[in-house]
Amino acid sequence: MRAVDIIIKKRDHQELDRTEIEYFIGGFTRGEIPDYQVSAWAMAILLNGMTDRETTDLTLAMAHSGEVLDLSQVVPVAVDKHSTGGVGDKTTLVVEPLVAACGLPVCKMSGRGLGFSGGTLDKIESIPGFRTNLTREEFLHQLKELGLVLSGQSSDLAPADGKLYALRDVTGTVQSTPLIASSVMSKKIAAGAQAIVLDVKMGLGAFMQTLEEARKLSELMVSIGRLSGRKVTALISDMNQPLGCAVGNALELQEAIDTLQGGGPKDFREHCLTVAAHMLVLGAKVGDLDEARSMVETAVREGKGWEKFRNLVKAQGGDVSFIDHPDKLPKTKYIEEVAASRTGYLSQVNARTIGEASVDLGAGRSKKEEAIDHAVGFIVHHKVGDYIEKGEVLFTIHAQDQQRLAAARQSCLQAVEWSDQPVDPLPLFYEVIA
Ligand code: URA
Repeated sequence: MRAVDIIIKKRDHQELDRTEIEYFIGGFTRGEIPDYQVSAWAMAILLNGMTDRETTDLTLAMAHSGEVLDLSQVVPVAVDKHSTGGVGDKTTLVVEPLVAACGLPVCKMSGRGLGFSGGTLDKIESIPGFRTNLTREEFLHQLKELGLVLSGQSSDLAPADGKLYALRDVTGTVQSTPLIASSVMSKKIAAGAQAIVLDVKMGLGAFMQTLEEARKLSELMVSIGRLSGRKVTALISDMNQPLGCAVGNALELQEAIDTLQGGGPKDFREHCLTVAAHMLVLGAKVGDLDEARSMVETAVREGKGWEKFRNLVKAQGGDVSFIDHPDKLPKTKYIEEVAASRTGYLSQVNARTIGEASVDLGAGRSKKEEAIDHAVGFIVHHKVGDYIEKGEVLFTIHAQDQQRLAAARQSCLQAVEWSDQPVDPLPLFYEVIA
């Protein structure tokens, strides 16, 4: 078998069989198939798609490119959650400690920023010392002792996804349903959780632009989960405007801390409570969503989620003084407000424009393994539907140099649209697929 023939087959719209997919993923994982061939293959998949059968085979090949954990030796049931990627989506940082604080073990394998969407690992690494490259033994030990673990892909767990993810980020091959589904589900299967809540983002700042695409991706991932013996619920949530206010790594971490401490923006808080409640139900901690919701609210009120987060940071080597005193987190040289140019109702705050502008400020990567700047980003002060007076602050930009500050200012102006008539706020969720 030759990698080039497999690329050509996909380029020519033919269906790959399981052996070809396993050959390709195995060769890539071992470093025998070079990045340029894998990039060409990923582009062929992006352009020509994959059948559901091919996607399932790809997912399983990536999941088995390393070890697949069996957590039943460690905890009776573990739950996980994953977002398909959005702008301002710091949900994991809040939801995982909250659910763990409610007594349901949570194990999470997260990713880095991808294209215009941020990544949990980049956010949490704003805390000096925080380690995301846990070994298998550390992963299992922490799950047992703390009931909460947040790791990145390692050479042990779904290494093929780790490598492919980094390549896709810089080769324009992110936005593909089979590649997203296999990336998400291979990580989830390898990390071993029996119950998985998927937060499938839909809208301008998501990889899925329409409800139909989001539904297709959700159904595919739920079905792959079922074939692998996992319980999966997919929530389709809005990503037309950024989630919460903060966009950028340390800024988002700070907002997550505020939320765990009982504050935080209303939409983000509500989003987190809903996702956490679904995790508690899917993990069979409680029987229904109402009960789950009140359990999570209590965990916030009594500070138990925050305590769990502190313990997570400590356990993974992070310096807790940075979360106890977030003013110690990295800061930018310039902080500038952008005011509304007119009075009216906000009809759009384009999440994609803000996400891309945030990458341009340095919060994301344009080349593999590029260093990111944890301090830069935006605070988005208003939501679609808000009535704004001319001169009110719409955005705060955090930038390191004048040139990028000026570009970000332009992006802020391009991101908003106005209406003279009242505009309905955007929903947080559209559908639940189980
Ligand atoms: N999240 C992932 O883990 N992978 C993707 O491809 C997109 C979002």
